[in-house]
Amino acid sequence: MLNTKYYGLTTLITKTAYFCRRNKNLAEMYRTHTCGELRLEHQGKEVTLAGWVQRKREFGGMTFIDLRDRYGITQLVFNEKTDSDITEKMKKLGREFVIQAKGIVRERSNKNKNIPTGDIEIEVTGLCILNSSEVPPFTIEDESDGGDDLRMKYRYLDLRRAPVRDTLILRAKMAHAVRSYLNDLDFIETETPVLIKSTPEGARDFVVPSRMNPGEFYALPQSPQQLKQLLMVAGFDRYYQIVKCFRDEDLRADRQPEFTQIDCEMSFVEQEDILNTFEGLIRYLFKEIKGIEFEDFPRMPYSEAMDNYGSDKPDIRFGMKIKDLTGLVKNKGFQVFDNAEFIGGICAEGCSEYTRKQLDSLTEWVKRPQIGAKGMVYVKYNADGSFKSSVDKFYSPEELKKWADLSDAKPGDLILVLSGDKEKMQKALGDLRLEMAGRLGLRDKSVFKPLWVVDFPLLEWDEETQRYYAMHHPFTSPKPEDIPILETDPGAVRANAYDMVINGVEVGGGSVRIFNKELQSRMFKAIGFTQEQAEYQFGFLMNAFKYGAPPHAGIAFGFDRLTSMFAGLDSIRDTIAFPKNNSGRDVMMDSPSVIDDSQLKELNIKLGVKE
Ligand code: AMO
Repeated sequence: MLNTKYYGLTTLITKTAYFCRRNKNLAEMYRTHTCGELRLEHQGKEVTLAGWVQRKREFGGMTFIDLRDRYGITQLVFNEKTDSDITEKMKKLGREFVIQAKGIVRERSNKNKNIPTGDIEIEVTGLCILNSSEVPPFTIEDESDGGDDLRMKYRYLDLRRAPVRDTLILRAKMAHAVRSYLNDLDFIETETPVLIKSTPEGARDFVVPSRMNPGEFYALPQSPQQLKQLLMVAGFDRYYQIVKCFRDEDLRADRQPEFTQIDCEMSFVEQEDILNTFEGLIRYLFKEIKGIEFEDFPRMPYSEAMDNYGSDKPDIRFGMKIKDLTGLVKNKGFQVFDNAEFIGGICAEGCSEYTRKQLDSLTEWVKRPQIGAKGMVYVKYNADGSFKSSVDKFYSPEELKKWADLSDAKPGDLILVLSGDKEKMQKALGDLRLEMAGRLGLRDKSVFKPLWVVDFPLLEWDEETQRYYAMHHPFTSPKPEDIPILETDPGAVRANAYDMVINGVEVGGGSVRIFNKELQSRMFKAIGFTQEQAEYQFGFLMNAFKYGAPPHAGIAFGFDRLTSMFAGLDSIRDTIAFPKNNSGRDVMMDSPSVIDDSQLKELNIKLGVKE
């Protein structure tokens, strides 16, 4: 209902009713237009807007207010002609007051090219204060003066800021496009339970105590993996769900304890069908949302990714591939190299003029425990064709030229070399490659390079527990040609598993599943599960497989990661309306929190005394 009593204007009722009929998208009574829609063509029109006061500025006898809603900002103007009652009310307005303003659309003399409504302003003829506001703890504008903690504590105010809000609108559009693509392909959107059974493989579970079953716990799903496989046994054929998943793991920029997957499964398919269907999904999303079409969507075996990029999620926006120098540089009297299993290098283009200080700081960088190199050798291939290296004592310029040739270096470039354990050094060089690319501006956020990484190892060895773990999960099928060596050489078995990687980010992953009971038992054995353990944890799935499981395969995309990539953000946090902070806390609700004794008692939980 329009607040006519504030306006004291009877004619407004009929006018508003007219506008409401015309503008059926709006929630009728409070406004005729949004703050983002008025243009020069509306000049002379009487309109009513509603929103928040972002800013109030006074110039001589005039007062300007930036009125904000979800759709944009419109300038309101009050001048000497404004009714004195309205002027009195206007004087009371502070930041974030909620108001309704009626007025006439006028062309602005001082146009603002930065906003779509910048050609016009509203000469105010009616004003209603719908709600007051305390002074907000930070400025609610595109650039805020609020630090991270403050913004998170008052997230509902942060969400009023256009950049944060726009990311969430983008997210909604992406979800819509995902549904549209998958629905068109006859996928059935199906919800699966959130209270499920704990399965300690993978990350740690979040658990929920059961009041009705004292001493027993549900787990929140790390993913609906087994449930979607059961839907395939049920004959659903094609399933998807945009679904919350929960993993109690340490947080990083691309990880939240509570995140969203686009989770999919298909029956009667092979790996190739999955790759084509979901390459299609990603192509569709990029085309629909960003207007980008990909020419290439390469497929790269895991071993090639590790050899060339030192990572199973290579950023292929730039080259700078890792070169294996082992054969070339070993046994020339340089002990460090002679004792190393692997010596590899990368070529940083145009960096031959790096100073001593820059090289020292880079050496310190690779020696950090996260990278784990013992030191770094450099070779400057100077612009005049000469060489200067940290190992000049051991290698002649002719020999260094061979390093340069193998590293694809040309005059003006810098070769950075690490040595040691092969796997560790490949990863370290991979990290160094990303660091150098960052410094050289090669990680352009407006360029997108997707690829599939395929042929992952089925199992990975864990030194600490002295056993193999499934690299993806225990239902992942080995490559048929590798099945015979599952018992004799488990580490060499490759999986029918695939990841989709874009710009060095793993945006999705999945596998062809085992649907044969015997093979599943062999797999459990390979990862050190007894029959009883397997029964206890996955009995329901293995039981279901007795009743005609079809061949099936699937994939899940990290929806938050995809959104942050589309939005050009470095962290997934701002793709989530109410995220957790780095310690897994929701600082707005102040959760997790203690619960009272009566609740604990009801749940039959006795807390241990804190040490
Ligand atoms: P996976 O564990 O690889 O596979 O997860 C799929 C995708 O989910 C995203 N992701 C995350 N995003 C944000 N925060 C996290 N903590 C987080 N963990 C994972 C990643 C990842 O590629 N059930 C299987 C899929 C399948 O086999 O079908 C699964 O969950 O983008």
